[in-house]
Amino acid sequence: MQTKIEKISPLSALAVNNIQEVSQNGVDFLSFREKLSFANISRMDKKVEWKGARVAIKSALDCISIPYPGFFKDEHGKSHPMDGFGYVSLSHTRGIAAAIFHKEMPVGIDLDYIREKVIRLGPKFLDPVEMDFLNNDPELYTVAWSAKESIFKCQGRRGISLKSNILLEPFSLQDKVIKGKVYQSEHSDHFYQVKVEKENDIVLTYTIW
Ligand SMILES: CC(C)(COP(=O)(O)OP(=O)(O)OC[C@H]1O[C@@H](n2cnc3c(N)ncnc32)[C@H](O)[C@@H]1OP(=O)(O)O)[C@@H](O)C(=O)NCCC(=O)NCCS
Repeated sequence: MQTKIEKISPLSALAVNNIQEVSQNGVDFLSFREKLSFANISRMDKKVEWKGARVAIKSALDCISIPYPGFFKDEHGKSHPMDGFGYVSLSHTRGIAAAIFHKEMPVGIDLDYIREKVIRLGPKFLDPVEMDFLNNDPELYTVAWSAKESIFKCQGRRGISLKSNILLEPFSLQDKVIKGKVYQSEHSDHFYQVKVEKENDIVLTYTIW
């Protein structure tokens, strides 16, 4: 997937990085705590992915003229701006990283490679109703997986199950926006829209408002 920085609205921006391309970028912009976290990652592949996601969020923030605030993780693993203003989401995988920021609304972003093995995982993250319209297609399964991960990250709480608490409306490979909801017996439903982008064997999804 090509490196890009996109202003979604005056309130929101995203960036996708080819990790190789940003490997020479410095990390001076990170907060003291983030520099410590970065120093403590021992695996080099994980380290470059982590940095790729932070370089991506810095680019997205630059695009809407917001100074880098530094981010901390809550007890669920979700990142929040240190200054308490706005919402962020990050994703990184082999060779590629992405980040999204919104000044006012929670966001979720996810990157995945399309792989045959996602079909085998289907029963772990899909409702039978969803499997009916996904037709054992690895690309559709990957989009469903990624969309659910984006919704999961947007809501942020660990106890939510992709299979039992997140349901997608039927969609096809032509659809650029997918609708889904988080449903739980004790709460009212929350509805989400997820933008889908594909390039070669990579799927990028992110929540939109
Ligand atoms: C947390 C989770 C969403 C991370 O996704 P992933 O595909 O492993 O990794 P990604 O690179 O896309 O995303 C990693 C980023 O997610 C963010 N993240 C972690 N926990 C999060 C949470 N609870 N909410 C929002 N974002 C979270 C972090 O920023 C992390 O990056 P960092 O560690 O560099 O800060 C995922 O591991 C998860 O728990 N998924 C849902 C649970 C589930 O049901 N899984 C199995 C079903 S078969």
